[in-house]
Amino acid sequence: MAPSSTTQKVDAFAMMRQAAAGKKPSAAAEASPPKASGSGSSSKAANSGGPAVAPMFKPKGSGLGAGPKHVADVENQPWVEKYRPKNLEEVSAQDHTVQVLKKTLGNSNLPHMLFYGPPGTGKTSTILALCKQLFGPELFRSRVLELNASDERGISVVRDKIKNFAKTTVTTNHDPNYPAPPFKIIILDEADSMTQDAQSALRRIMESHSRITRFCLICNYVTRIIEPITSRCSKFRFKPLDVSSTELRLKEICLKENVDCPDDALRALIKTSDGDLRRAITYLQSASRLHSATTPPTPLTAISVQEIGGVVPDGVMAELAKALGVESGAEDVEMGEPSGRTVGAFETVQRAVEKVVREGYSATQVLTQLHDLLILDPLVSPRAKAKIALTLGETDKCLTDGADEELQLLNACAKIRKAVSEAA
Ligand SMILES: Nc1ncnc2c1ncn2[C@@H]1O[C@H](COP(=O)(O)OP(=O)(O)OP(=O)(O)O)[C@@H](O)[C@H]1O
Ligand SMILES: [Mg+2]
Repeated sequence: MAPSSTTQKVDAFAMMRQAAAGKKPSAAAEASPPKASGSGSSSKAANSGGPAVAPMFKPKGSGLGAGPKHVADVENQPWVEKYRPKNLEEVSAQDHTVQVLKKTLGNSNLPHMLFYGPPGTGKTSTILALCKQLFGPELFRSRVLELNASDERGISVVRDKIKNFAKTTVTTNHDPNYPAPPFKIIILDEADSMTQDAQSALRRIMESHSRITRFCLICNYVTRIIEPITSRCSKFRFKPLDVSSTELRLKEICLKENVDCPDDALRALIKTSDGDLRRAITYLQSASRLHSATTPPTPLTAISVQEIGGVVPDGVMAELAKALGVESGAEDVEMGEPSGRTVGAFETVQRAVEKVVREGYSATQVLTQLHDLLILDPLVSPRAKAKIALTLGETDKCLTDGADEELQLLNACAKIRKAVSEAA
């Protein structure tokens, strides 16, 4: 063992010396090439005819942690991060909010703010873009405190960390290219997961330090923010992105990333993402990976987008709907009758549900699609629709509480079948 490792070491050194002298390494040395680091400096030394061993070592730093620097590579970032708006101009669709916030760039007057709306609509991106535009990269760290649900934000943190940051005075030296107003911004992202006590503790801090500190609370469910806090903030509602804004942004990304996305795939992306731009971009990236992995690369398809999004195909849904008695050709069997026919109806429903569950589709997704299918169907009576809506709501609650997916789906489908056949 020992002689061979020594040989390898000697070979490596020989190869480095040859490389430094501008020669091609020998075959033996090529078999175990050493890892090149800091290639720029080594080739420089080689060209200038410097000492042979010098390029092996970095000029500065040795020992642990002296390896190559890990620089965040923008190219390898997920697209949602790569295309996160860098300024307010780049935020799509939220016109009203962007318009109001742009004014603050001019006169530096900012109220406490509460951003609320569904996921992936640009809340976090908007406040980060605003802060960057207000303070610039230099001041950002000292003027902005961002805390989200991954940080501990109980009452003790509000009393210590937030209060301390809120009351520190602001420095005045700043980059003249940025307005840098004389206050700090505390961003409390995902504020709906803060406890009521922690929210209550915020009230006084928001008031007493408002001269030098502004708060921006961000949440999905505005009802989970206590009234005294909402009344201290200007509210900004973030809407789910409309079709044209989503389309525009996706097309922009396709162009920059060289993705061949035909119209039907684009439509499928918009439909499955349902106003959530983050989801649309994520699906786009996954689908483009899938299609670029083939040789030759193929254009994106609606089917692969739906598959990635976990959407139940129309054919499977139509079959389930038929088992629920919604399609005209379905066997007209009443539920709840004490006859042999009842078993037949229930079995039809059970088989259909089992088939869907075995395919691995999530119950919530099936219910969402059932909702769209049944509530919009003109042939289902209004009375039946009311009962179906009630059933879907109850099932959704049970699923959120952690109930068994298959049992809940079966229960809901059985009730829907009953509602449909009763009204017929
Ligand atoms: N209005 C928008 N304009 C441009 N890009 C957006 C917009 N909304 C979302 N995005 C894209 O989606 C990603 C996620 O957006 P962001 O983090 O701002 O969502 P959010 O509203 O804070 O969602 P959550 O409620 O889940 O925290 C961004 O990186 C960006 O690529
Ligand atoms: Mg967010």
